[in-house]
Amino acid sequence: MERAAVVLAAGAGTRMKSKKPKVAHEVLGKPLVNWVVDAANQAGVDQCVVVVGHGRELVEPLLQDVIIAVQEQRLGTADAVAAAKEALAGFEGSVLVLSGDCPLITPQTIERLAQLREENDAAVALLTMALDDPFGYGRIIRAEDGTVLRIVEQKDATPEEAAVTECNAGFYCFDGAFLFEALAAVDSSNAQNEFYLTDVVAISREAGRAVVALQAEDPTECLGINSRVQLADATKIMQKRINRRHMDAGVTMLDPDSVWIGPDVVIEPDVEILPQTMLFGATSIGEDSVIGPNTRLRDTVVGKGCVVDETVALESVLEDGATSGPRAYLRPGAHLCENAKAGTHVEIKKSTVGKGSKVPHLSYVGDATIGEGVNLGAGTITCNYDGQKKWPTVIGDDVFVGSSTMLVAPVTIGDSALIGAGSVITKDVTPGALALGRARQMEMPGWVKSHNEEAE
Ligand code: UD1
Ligand code: CA
Repeated sequence: MERAAVVLAAGAGTRMKSKKPKVAHEVLGKPLVNWVVDAANQAGVDQCVVVVGHGRELVEPLLQDVIIAVQEQRLGTADAVAAAKEALAGFEGSVLVLSGDCPLITPQTIERLAQLREENDAAVALLTMALDDPFGYGRIIRAEDGTVLRIVEQKDATPEEAAVTECNAGFYCFDGAFLFEALAAVDSSNAQNEFYLTDVVAISREAGRAVVALQAEDPTECLGINSRVQLADATKIMQKRINRRHMDAGVTMLDPDSVWIGPDVVIEPDVEILPQTMLFGATSIGEDSVIGPNTRLRDTVVGKGCVVDETVALESVLEDGATSGPRAYLRPGAHLCENAKAGTHVEIKKSTVGKGSKVPHLSYVGDATIGEGVNLGAGTITCNYDGQKKWPTVIGDDVFVGSSTMLVAPVTIGDSALIGAGSVITKDVTPGALALGRARQMEMPGWVKSHNEEAE
């Protein structure tokens, strides 16, 4: 049977106290709404409609490969689903309705909810959860035979109804052929004057259709984000889930509580991750590498057997055996070839450091191409910016640059050249040459003693 998902993402989320709409806030680098859309896609839905409204100009750019539907006014959850009617015109099958602010929902639960409805040919299958403190949630009212009769919202509940601890988690699978017909029968005569999606349950029963319920095994899956505290809670749960997955796959973590890994990061077995490490975006780590402590990598590819110690790396590449840090900053376009090194207090931007080449201490390398087997002495700096334009530096193979050298770009240093320490190099250096660009040392013998005597 075909399956579609409708993700509700039109709400404002006032309790977030944010200029950003709630569903645009992120858990481990991924917006809330994308977590839900991805879970639906992983559960194999054939099409996904996202209902946007509040702050839609900030939500829509986050979404790819979905159909956007717009809810013009926030009149309630039934009205929000009704906004997807046009997008689903002609669709036949199961329609899953998912809250866009519940990032912890799993594809497995979505799949089971859909299966339950389809097996029973029910009008709706809903996800419920047993909570110690049900306050604020819709309550599941069951008949004596145990079947679900209706859902009562907190604000409409009698004291007896409010005492029920089984709650509506806010995830549903509907019979698509029946859903929009039932929505047309929902009215807003309730405490909040809203059109409640939950009323479809009673409407289904009145129409003689079955309603089935699936109790969530793990109620944390249904955690909805309404505040920054809940955002932090959800992030913590997701952190544990992701770290567990990597550890199960052969990654060592000294202190998993202090390691934060985004959902799309790929890590090979026998990688060791040390404390205070964050790996985000499209980052990947090859086997036997050691990452951290105190390291943040975003969109960075790390090969096998690398050591990445106290490093911030953004959109960079470290090939097999490369090392960085402690205290290295690799900015976009930094590329360390095999066994290359960016050492302590070294910043590299948009530059390639060739195979086995070393930038061990206190350097800035920008817009440079460095060959193989090169050593840049401590404090070497590529002066790539003249205040208006950026200029390139090209360094050949086997070049040795003495400490505290300024390479004023544009400049090219030929293969096997040697630059004396403290040089300011403003002109190209030919291969194999010794280049010096510094004031000649002078000496005045006995000067100190005679100077002191004069002063007496
Ligand atoms: C809803 C359920 C409640 C359930 C709870 C679970 C209803 C009437 N009640 O309550 O039974 O226990 O979820 O979390 O459905 N939204 C829109 N447009 C609207 C209104 C809401 O897009 O006009 C979106 C919100 O952005 C949110 C979702 O729908 O993502 C749920 O809405 P919310 O107002 O938070 O529902 P609750 O009152 O929490
Ligand atoms: Ca509400």
